[in-house]
Amino acid sequence: MAEEDQELLHLFLVMEKGMASSRDRSEAFFSYLEKMFSVSLKEMEAFINGFHSEMKKGLSGAESSLKMIPCFVDRPTGSERGDFLALDLGGTNLRVLAVTLDGKRSSTISATHKFVIPKEKMQGTGVVLFDYIAHCIDLFLTEYQMDRGKNYDLAFTFSFPVEQMGVASGNLITWTKGFTATGVRGRDVMVLLREALRRNHIQCINLTALANDTVGTLAAGGYVDPACDLGVIMGTGTNACYRERIGRIGRVKSAYDGEYMIVNLEWGNFDGVARTFYDRILDQNSVNPGAMYLEKMVSGMYLGELARIVLLDLIKRDLILVNEPTAGACFTEKRSFTTEDMSRFEGDTGEGLEKIASFFREKGIPKVPFHERKKIKHLCSILSRRAAGLGAAAITAVLSWMDPQLDRGHTVAVDGTLFEKYPGFKAGMRHVFKSLLGDKAEKIALVHTKDGSGKGAAIIAAVAAAVRSPKK
Ligand code: GLC
Repeated sequence: MAEEDQELLHLFLVMEKGMASSRDRSEAFFSYLEKMFSVSLKEMEAFINGFHSEMKKGLSGAESSLKMIPCFVDRPTGSERGDFLALDLGGTNLRVLAVTLDGKRSSTISATHKFVIPKEKMQGTGVVLFDYIAHCIDLFLTEYQMDRGKNYDLAFTFSFPVEQMGVASGNLITWTKGFTATGVRGRDVMVLLREALRRNHIQCINLTALANDTVGTLAAGGYVDPACDLGVIMGTGTNACYRERIGRIGRVKSAYDGEYMIVNLEWGNFDGVARTFYDRILDQNSVNPGAMYLEKMVSGMYLGELARIVLLDLIKRDLILVNEPTAGACFTEKRSFTTEDMSRFEGDTGEGLEKIASFFREKGIPKVPFHERKKIKHLCSILSRRAAGLGAAAITAVLSWMDPQLDRGHTVAVDGTLFEKYPGFKAGMRHVFKSLLGDKAEKIALVHTKDGSGKGAAIIAAVAAAVRSPKK
């Protein structure tokens, strides 16, 4: 347990001694939780300073918790055009899309299919995973009766840390977000995909570009808005990329024709942030302990699990669901409480908190008193507030790295279900911008860039295709 957590717990235990009712003890524990998960302005500022120093190290190629991966591509100009396929792999789903770019800052998705990735494909062998991807592409080609005699340029949005060698190749550094497929780490994922297409007799696909989802999101944002210079994902995972001056990217040694290059921060791995006792439990129980600390505090894959861990602790201490002997058993299974549940709880604005009551009824706990439902909702808000705050602090860190005084306006393209759907998440972020930056917060436009990763990858494929066959 961190020293401060210990102090707080001690305080709580001392206070608890004089408290007769479990309701009082529970109140006291909740204020303890509030303190434990709150991030003061001073801590946010220290977070930003720490972030800058990790960015600097990462850009130079030194050891850093921020990988700062050069992506060998810049923001699009808006004039890219053509028809492309995009393949989007990154969370629980795999999407195949057909995208048309009109060359005038507008794009349309003419076909799309979402496939669920079964756990055994995520956590089996790489061959099984990539064969499954090829199979999904095959189904898509059939569903939309695409002419297999033609050639299609396909962009692969692969939302994991990849050391890119160029715009169409990159080796997986490590899996994140629960993926563990073997035989992929250290390999070029474009080669693995090409081999899978060959094994599955799919010959009509050119693999044109490889992009992180943040890069796709920045490209999609930049395609419509030239002021967009930051792409952010707040969904199953969390990460960002931004435009960097080539002269500041010491780790790029190969030739690159351009003044700016997009850099993928892989900020989910940032480790300069104080973790609580509960964060540590979550980390130890994860498939990648010791890594992705920020992601484990901020993103959809972990928030619900963190809430479950705290909830279970509260139940064990007899501080919540006190008259329900079966309550503990409902939350011992990993992922028995999800971020979606949290989102539903926080979205329950009804006077009687009926949605929360019905959640517990479905779990076989029919009589959760109102004041306890309110408390559990409050617990969700404590955790989501911290997540939104840290996300906003990370965005502020990157913007102030690019533009220390925030002299210009910045459009931040953001995608991901947490940002899009979680009640109050965006407002929580805005609140932190305001506290950190005062009036300058107005310079930040957060724009939800829906389908950014798919559309944006197609835009990057267009940039790459243009480089391959420049106009005469
Ligand atoms: C994880 C991945 C990263 C991705 C992010 C959002 O953090 O490592 O590459 O961008 O999730 O999907």
